[in-house]
Amino acid sequence: MRSEPVAATRIAHLIERLEYHNYRYYVLDDPEIGDSEYDLMMRELQALEAANPHLVRRDSPSNRIGGAPSPGFRPLRHAAPMLSLNNALNLEEFAEFDRRVATRLGVTDVRYSAETKLDGLAISLRYEAGELVSAATRGDGETGEDVTANVKTIRAVPLRLRLVPAPSVMEVRGEIYLDHAGFEKLNEQQRASGLKPFANPRNAAAGSLRQLDPQMTATRPLTIYCYALGPSDGLSIPDSHFDCLKLLGTAGFRVSPETRQLNGLQAAVEYYIALSERRDRLGYEIDGVVYKVDSLAQQALLGFVAKAPRWAIAYKFPPAERPTRVLGIDVQVGRTGALTPVARLEPVVVGGVTITNATLHNADELARKDVRIGDIVMVRRAGDVIPEILRVVLAARPPQAIPFVMPDTIPEQAREQLVQGIIHFASRRALDIDGLGDKWVELFVCLGLISDAADLYGLKEEQLSALERLGEKSAQNLIAAIAASKTTTLARFLYALGIPEVGEATARMLASHFGELETLMAADTALLETVPDVGPIVASRIYEFFRTPARIALIARLREHGVWWPEEPTGASTPRPLAGWTIVLTGTLATLSREEAGELLRTLGAKIAGSVSLKTRLVIVGEEAGSKAEKARALGVPRLDEAGLHALLKEPLAIARIVAEHQRGD
Ligand code: IVH
Repeated sequence: MRSEPVAATRIAHLIERLEYHNYRYYVLDDPEIGDSEYDLMMRELQALEAANPHLVRRDSPSNRIGGAPSPGFRPLRHAAPMLSLNNALNLEEFAEFDRRVATRLGVTDVRYSAETKLDGLAISLRYEAGELVSAATRGDGETGEDVTANVKTIRAVPLRLRLVPAPSVMEVRGEIYLDHAGFEKLNEQQRASGLKPFANPRNAAAGSLRQLDPQMTATRPLTIYCYALGPSDGLSIPDSHFDCLKLLGTAGFRVSPETRQLNGLQAAVEYYIALSERRDRLGYEIDGVVYKVDSLAQQALLGFVAKAPRWAIAYKFPPAERPTRVLGIDVQVGRTGALTPVARLEPVVVGGVTITNATLHNADELARKDVRIGDIVMVRRAGDVIPEILRVVLAARPPQAIPFVMPDTIPEQAREQLVQGIIHFASRRALDIDGLGDKWVELFVCLGLISDAADLYGLKEEQLSALERLGEKSAQNLIAAIAASKTTTLARFLYALGIPEVGEATARMLASHFGELETLMAADTALLETVPDVGPIVASRIYEFFRTPARIALIARLREHGVWWPEEPTGASTPRPLAGWTIVLTGTLATLSREEAGELLRTLGAKIAGSVSLKTRLVIVGEEAGSKAEKARALGVPRLDEAGLHALLKEPLAIARIVAEHQRGD
């Protein structure tokens, strides 16, 4: 056993060495030693720490392996707000930005620092006396979530600054992301454990960082590029942004090697073109170029508009398109009986995501695009997630390719599935529709009277009594039984939906845990896993189920038909679907007054505000809307028109989710 001062010195030495080699490996990508040598040092450190618990330092790299799981993330207020960026979607908009800046500054050529726009998750890292003390997500820009324990597991994040002397405070902002290799590796892990693969690197990064258990985050190949210096104290700040980034490099952070200092519009545009050509070879996802006025003095002169600086812009790339071959066309049957053609594709990587199939929406769309088996097609990720076929490369069409003919009837096997789904829905332990035997369900489906469970509630007595095998009395009884089934319990309803992996017992558990369907539908997998008996697989099935538009539509129709249940008694308070939403109404609505609309939104939990600000989550835009709509556009706040408002009132959760998605897409 070592004497204590010796142990402390050795610990300090090991920490210093381990962090140095970590830096060589994860930041410089230039390791000096092999894994086994690193592991030996790490084990020695862990052994010393185990023997001397009071000598364990907070900045010890043994911490990276993952601390204790937490019940949630605490809010953390940023020392200075985390801003967002205005976008330029084309050259005109970018040139317009450059002209505005040049005019305001009174210069001909503006000097920019040009950087990659990474597609990940913004993070603010705070170092006090050189030590990493906290890490927070962007949140609403003012307050984020404290994800310190998780961020500590990211090897490219220094636990201690490599600056001597260390400044008393230094905040660093950057983007946490997964490169393509890391993304593929993670999805392999997901598939191997029977979990759903992530749709894209950004979702995967967000999901990984928001794991409640840091041990989980530690297994995810996350990394970071830092792009800005935040509020600092005791640090001599350089004159230019470019030099700030250099300083970050010296301090031990990963900074994008693509960063350049450029003079004037022409050089800026050339950089954009060059980078867009190399985009696919970078090995990680970028969605544009960020230009920042390089001189900090000039930045200060330009200042901010609302939540974005006047001195920076994100000049976005158009969404990536790739060619691939159509291997086959499958026809899928939705719960509603609708037929959807889906093209099976030779796997192709588009914007870092491997695409193996793409929807063709419906028969009309398929005919319009005239997609044939064997064709080379251009695919794109629409809304950057759902793959879509843009067009056929006709020049490459194989001579033998023949037009695809959609079947106009539901294939045998699919109809059987549909029938079974409805039989399950009506069964005794589900909605318990007395007298609706299997044979009747089959017959009704065959005759086209129903194609899903909600259609049952639209059946008319006359339709049924007209059937040869069902007399007037039985028809009456059946209609009455269907009507009676409308009053049920949440547990029965959940069971009836036929969510994969959710039997009666799980349905009861979910009902009593969440109390309200809306809350359950909104729950993410982490929250679902807090329910007894719900593990990662069941959680992801439930999550998936409630994110499928056809399921959401079916649920909405069932409720419209009057299927309901008394509130489930739970301990937890039950938030309303728009709780936490600040909405602004502007312009004239045709179907209701602004007051009425406001009242309806309030009953859903929304707060109505009179003016558009950073806190605004959504603006409802009526006819002849003026400056508020304009401001919302400038701030990038999502807007809905009157039809959208009605959709929101009708299906608040589904629409709110789409709106939130839109907002996250910046
Ligand atoms: S600077 C003052 N630089 O884009 C400007 N942001 O749309 C603050 N982002 O929340 C951001 N790459 O998550 C900056 N090189 C880069 C960036 C970058 C990606 C993200 C960041 C920010 C969002 C704004």
